[in-house]
Amino acid sequence: MEDQRPTSETAASAAAPLPYANRPLATAPGHWVLARAGKRVLRPGGAALSTAMLARARLSGADIVELAPGLGRTATEVIAADPASYTAIDRDPDAARRVAAVVGDRGSVRRGEAAQTGLLDASADVVIGEAMLSMQGDKAKAAIAAEAARVLRPGGRYAIHELGVVPDDIDAAHYTELRKDLARAIHVNARPMTVAAWRQLLEDAGLVVDWADTAPMALLKLSRNLRDEGLGGFARIARNVISDRELRQRMLVMRRTFKRYERDMVGVALVAHKPE
Ligand SMILES: C[S@@+](CC[C@H](N)C(=O)[O-])C[C@H]1O[C@@H](n2cnc3c(N)ncnc32)[C@H](O)[C@@H]1O
Repeated sequence: MEDQRPTSETAASAAAPLPYANRPLATAPGHWVLARAGKRVLRPGGAALSTAMLARARLSGADIVELAPGLGRTATEVIAADPASYTAIDRDPDAARRVAAVVGDRGSVRRGEAAQTGLLDASADVVIGEAMLSMQGDKAKAAIAAEAARVLRPGGRYAIHELGVVPDDIDAAHYTELRKDLARAIHVNARPMTVAAWRQLLEDAGLVVDWADTAPMALLKLSRNLRDEGLGGFARIARNVISDRELRQRMLVMRRTFKRYERDMVGVALVAHKPE
């Protein structure tokens, strides 16, 4: 069979600049700083947790909606799994353009809000969202989960991969300190949640959780980056960080915070289905 894998990183980059490419590094959201450094896997539990989650979501032959695809790394995996259709919505125009270049004529991508996709009721078999609910407040999280449930057909699966905190009974004062330090470091008002709270969010949207797993939050660890970004990607990141002092400083602040809370934070993935 002909290789249907979408276009290369080079072609995608040529099609659109990175989000926030022209904004000062000092104030850019952490995930776009990581992207500027050369990272392409932007979810906290890494590529392996995403792959495990996608396997449970059963992509082959399915109508798939991805909320907030970012740079299109998961889009590449989804398209390779031969779905019936792929539709993605990201609020960032540059991200939407890049993902459109990645999927080519195998899918459609538009700029929009995950809580208001404009898609028809019960029109998808799988909705995927990674590293995007964590950056919303409680109301927006619930609105996006409800939108995913609305768009899913009965039996359809909602797969998420987000930032978690452990244990489920984490000390409230420690959690507040973590949240504030994290927001200061990444310039995003991130609200990670316990695994129990992520589960509850999906159940409150009327879904039934079938699977949940966690992985270390190792976004800036050497071994994770070698594994996720490959040797070439790792070299690209090293080159960028060494040659740009401002970038290096932002990365160091983020890494220090991730290290301080490495025992508290995890990547968490869940797959839930809409009851028949
Ligand atoms: C950290 S990146 C994650 C990208 C990708 N899912 C990944 O895991 O590599 C967050 C993405 O979510 C998008 N985003 C955040 N909130 C959104 C919302 N409410 N609606 C649509 N897109 C959103 C951002 O534009 C960005 O592309």
